[in-house]
Amino acid sequence: MIGQALSVREAIVTRRSVKNFNGQPVDAESITRILEDAVWAPNHGHRNPWRFIVAAEKDYGKLLEVLREFGVPKWQELSEEDLEKQMKKFTNPGAAVFVVVPEDARQKERLEDYAAASMLIQNAQLLAWDEGIGTCWKTPAFLDNPKFREALGVEQGERIISMLQFGYFDEAPKSRPRKPLNEVVTYFGRDSE
Ligand SMILES: Cc1cc2nc3c(=O)[nH]c(=O)nc-3n(C[C@H](O)[C@H](O)[C@H](O)COP(=O)(O)O)c2cc1C
Repeated sequence: MIGQALSVREAIVTRRSVKNFNGQPVDAESITRILEDAVWAPNHGHRNPWRFIVAAEKDYGKLLEVLREFGVPKWQELSEEDLEKQMKKFTNPGAAVFVVVPEDARQKERLEDYAAASMLIQNAQLLAWDEGIGTCWKTPAFLDNPKFREALGVEQGERIISMLQFGYFDEAPKSRPRKPLNEVVTYFGRDSE
């Protein structure tokens, strides 16, 4: 955080997903600091249903080789220029964290664990935002590709629920309005007018 910290409300209301990262790397220390606080998300049974695969600094460069293979269709057939263009979606962010959640065979526990890990992700997004670091939760199909999972060292019974991108940006991300509250709220017990 540079200057004064955002209030919780300010962080929630002003945070936006960043899709126009500027290529500046995010250091591993920042990611670790954010995750250290983000894990205070509520989780049922104190199961701590998460683990993280962090790729930052020179390791992000190593990850890019894997992302090229799984994230760019027919990458071998592309010209260097086209490949570089396609790779921008991975090279523009400055680091990535893969959030890995146990796939409990029991539906209740599985859903609770996904919900808890989702709260953790929002915590991380808000904490990053407070530091001037943008994030985007990405769910490309290749997260479930067995070969990609293997490349990341993800075990049977685990699921990668997010490629959480971190990075810096020059232009403020667009704000997408939410439905007005009166469209999504009914007050129980009040007569309809
Ligand atoms: C579960 C989940 C999955 C998402 N997956 C993607 C994705 O694969 N690609 C993407 O560009 N954005 C993804 N997003 C980001 C949303 O598109 C973004 O949060 C949404 O547009 C709201 O914008 P805001 O975060 O700026 O308020 C995902 C968000 C969530 C919560």
